[in-house]
Amino acid sequence: METKNERAYLITGGIPLKGEVRVSGAKNAATKELVACLLTDEKVELDNVPQIGDVEVTLEMLRDLGAKIESNNGHVTVDASGVTSHEVSAAFSRKNRIPILFLGPLLHRFKEAVIPSLGGCIIGARPVDFHLEALKTMGAEITCDDSVYKAHAKRLKGAVIELPFPSVGATENVMLSAVLAQGTTIIRNAAIEPEIEDLAMLLQAMGAIIRLEVNRTWVIEGVDKLHGAKHRVLPDRIEAASFAAVAALTHGEIFVRGAEQATMISYLNALRRVGVPFEILEDGILFKSADKLEAIALETDVHPGFMTDWQQPFVMLLTQAHGVSVVHETVYEDRFGYTDALRQMGANIQLHKECLGSKPCRYQNRDYRHSAIIVGPTPLKAADIRIPDLRAGFSYLIAALVAQGESRITNVEIIERGYEDIVGKLKKLGAEIKVT
Ligand code: EPU
Repeated sequence: METKNERAYLITGGIPLKGEVRVSGAKNAATKELVACLLTDEKVELDNVPQIGDVEVTLEMLRDLGAKIESNNGHVTVDASGVTSHEVSAAFSRKNRIPILFLGPLLHRFKEAVIPSLGGCIIGARPVDFHLEALKTMGAEITCDDSVYKAHAKRLKGAVIELPFPSVGATENVMLSAVLAQGTTIIRNAAIEPEIEDLAMLLQAMGAIIRLEVNRTWVIEGVDKLHGAKHRVLPDRIEAASFAAVAALTHGEIFVRGAEQATMISYLNALRRVGVPFEILEDGILFKSADKLEAIALETDVHPGFMTDWQQPFVMLLTQAHGVSVVHETVYEDRFGYTDALRQMGANIQLHKECLGSKPCRYQNRDYRHSAIIVGPTPLKAADIRIPDLRAGFSYLIAALVAQGESRITNVEIIERGYEDIVGKLKKLGAEIKVT
């Protein structure tokens, strides 16, 4: 529901975006790494921290617990020696999903922890049962009353955890709990996303003993103490992928400084199949536009597959591809809601409950519209659209940049939670965008 005097972006479409943009540090690594700073009383310095809403909220949570923070232009120093509270304040209820990751660090410090109800984008039910079961296996007692989690543990113990699905958050939660636990923890069927490896690298720099074995297995030998460290947050591969789609769809050419081939292999393969030209350069990737985009079939998956957070900018590409494309979303059950507004703008997208992919996923026969058929190309016309979730937000920016006329986009705070200086970056590339 739009509120009076709500901020909005007004975007005029049809202008080719050209030039250079620097990719920011990854939101989904930086926020977890800030939580990891609670595992030591020594100073931890993080570089390349994006200045976005979710980082601000995480810093506020740390400050509220008693940590001292110095933050200057992406360089953040956290000193947790003065942390006195085991309770993430109810003021942070439903802000995002980060509070659940405070469980392990607070249990190590205080033997108890209180975590308020979680927020985050509405793209499925997003339970935290894997997190809670794993922590219980490690010796925590956890109760949940009115969506507030209360946990106790004399000392967390190493354990063998087999995750039902390679969950990013559950893997991180166990990691943050295992590094100071008594004994060795093995996480099987774990997530191995580059952002998680980045977190593991920070933890190792802080004194943890942690390794990745074959078959999605992390092995963590608990140590008694961690120390201060310096770490640079890896570049945001979701932001980089979004700018690739902007270049291709606006008939522009964008050099994304800092984009890393190693973390984007699946995305680059999909771009190549669709016909978007790109060049891997020493310090980034140059994305160009194609004369003609080809329709393809695609499924999202956990790493090293095509990530679910790339789905939305890629669907935008497929609306302009020639022929019938199919996208099977296998990570979240409800991540196509945003396509309603794209249809209103002229896209031809139908949603289906069936698994339209090479293999059935967890949502087979479960009444979730988690497959999309996209027929293109169809011209897009400007519209008044409201952002439903973060990644859909960037795809709406792309739709507006492509559409004929001026689009008005509201609920822009959601996009500012996850993308640094998005308006400034788009303007620098030549976009006509006004903030009201
Ligand atoms: N799941 C459960 N139980 C659990 C945990 C997960 O059923 O206890 C299910 C989820 O409902 C979902 C699937 O497992 O269907 C994967 O969830 P996962 O735990 O991997 O996701 P997450 O940790 O909540 C992070 C990112 C998401 C990203 C996913 C997948 C952060 C803060 N969020 O979420 O990013 O889509 O991993 O890569 O790191 C975003 O940045 O906009 C975003 C949504």
